[in-house]
Amino acid sequence: MSGSATSKTGTGHEYVKALCEQACNHRAVNHPYLQQLIAGEVPDVKGALKDFVYQYSAYSLDFIRFLTATISQLEKGEHRKALMQNLVEETGRIDAENAALLKTIGIELEWVDGIPHPELFSRYMSAAGIDSEYRRSNEFSDEAIIWRDLFYSLCSKEGPARALGAIGLGTENIVKYIYRPFIKAIDRHLDISLRDRVFFDLHATLDDQHGDVLTNIAIDYAEKPENRKPIKEGMLMALSIRNSFFDALQARAHAMQPVQ
Ligand SMILES: [Fe+2]
Repeated sequence: MSGSATSKTGTGHEYVKALCEQACNHRAVNHPYLQQLIAGEVPDVKGALKDFVYQYSAYSLDFIRFLTATISQLEKGEHRKALMQNLVEETGRIDAENAALLKTIGIELEWVDGIPHPELFSRYMSAAGIDSEYRRSNEFSDEAIIWRDLFYSLCSKEGPARALGAIGLGTENIVKYIYRPFIKAIDRHLDISLRDRVFFDLHATLDDQHGDVLTNIAIDYAEKPENRKPIKEGMLMALSIRNSFFDALQARAHAMQPVQ
């Protein structure tokens, strides 16, 4: 682990900050498949982008369930209250400050205000042509199902420190680094409006705040040395299953028939 803090020494803040740095350098966050999608270095880039988002939906559409499970594991009322704010925002509430921030990147309030994030994700899928016919002929992959189910288990059954590592340091803190290249690939290869792909732009912009709330709670937990190992394990497990998911997507993309 980089940084000076180990599981026994240093402050909770130092320990968690070093973990955050480790997460940013993880292969899941810098997966080569993301760069291949931008460069179009797959046989059928449109098919691959469609596959990416449909398979991702197996996990992403359950995000509120993951967050709710994490909240229910937290021991202190102040922590639960802070994370409830993230949950409220997942259901579509945007405060004035965030509305102004979104405006600066061209996102109109009416596109997102009061609309739960799973619905924004579904809006993208409809625009990307994932209709009932596509759903009938394409199943979720084993890796997508495993990612969703193991992630839920990390958030719900293995104690608050692991949950915080998984959904905070291993997820909310890093998703913008994944959504940014994905947005670049959409921009380059698909004709989808900013309104329709707003799920990704919104999260690439606002998840910093969600990550900060979770990081601060993780720092409080990390003040107790016995919580440090489970925070780190939760983070690494979340990153590891995301990485396996991206590996599988990459293999699926390279097995597609080339577009003539
Ligand atoms: Fe969200």
